[in-house]
Amino acid sequence: MANVVIFDHPLIQHKLSILRDENTGTKEFRALISEIATLMCYEATRDLPLTDVDVKTPMGICHAKQVKGRKLAFVPILRAGLGMIDGVLNLVPAAKVGHIGLYRDPETAQPVEYYCKLPADIEEREVIVVDPMLATGGSAVDAITMIKNKGAANVKFMCIIAAPEGLKALQEVHPDVDIYCAALDDYLNEHKYIIPGLGDAGDRIFGTK
Ligand code: PRP
Ligand code: URA
Repeated sequence: MANVVIFDHPLIQHKLSILRDENTGTKEFRALISEIATLMCYEATRDLPLTDVDVKTPMGICHAKQVKGRKLAFVPILRAGLGMIDGVLNLVPAAKVGHIGLYRDPETAQPVEYYCKLPADIEEREVIVVDPMLATGGSAVDAITMIKNKGAANVKFMCIIAAPEGLKALQEVHPDVDIYCAALDDYLNEHKYIIPGLGDAGDRIFGTK
C-alpha cells in the first residue's frame, strides 16, 4: 500500500484555517490555495532522485547535487485543480502540465469526463495529480485511471482536504499512488460535500457563486 501523508506543518494549518473561513473572499482564497500547494509540493517532491555534479565556485570545485533529469508532469483536475498549478510551478517551473476535465454530476455525484490533454511523453514522467478536494474519490480515481491508461506508471495525488470515504476509495482502486493532503476531514454530507470542508472549491476559486 502506498503512503498517505497528512500535513501537520503549522504554516499549512494556519493558511488552511483561513481558506475554510466562509468570509474569505475569492482573491485571498486563490492566493491561499496557491501558497498551500507550494508548501505541499515541497514535501511531495522529497524523493526526486539526485545526481552528482561538480560546480566551480569562485573559491574552487564543489561536489554538489542536482535533481536528476527525471521528468515531472503536473495534472490539475479541472476546474478547481487549476488553482494549485501556479503554486506547484513555483517550485518546479520546468514541469509539463496536462489537463483533465471532470465535473461531478450534481444528481449522482458521479464524475463526468469532458477533457483530457496530457504531455505526449507522459509514460516517461512522474505525474502529480492536483485537486483541492477528495470527496467520494470518484474524480481522482477516474483521472488517475485515464493517466495510467496513457502509460504513466509513477503517479502521486495531492489534495488540500480529503474525506475518509475518498481516501479509502482511492487507496482501494490505486494502491500504488502516494496521497498527500493538508487535512483529513470528518465525513461527507448527503450531497457528498466534505464536512466541515470549505464548500465548493471551484466556485470559491473562480467566484462563480
Ligand atoms: C470538485 C473537486 C473535485 C471533485 C471531488 O470538482 O474539485 O474534482 O469535486 O469530488 P469527488 O471526490 O466526489 O469526485 P467539481 O465536480 O465540483 O467540478 P469543478 O472543479 O469544475 O467545480
Ligand atoms: N467538491 C468540492 O468542491 N467540495 C466538496 O466538499 C466536495 C466536492
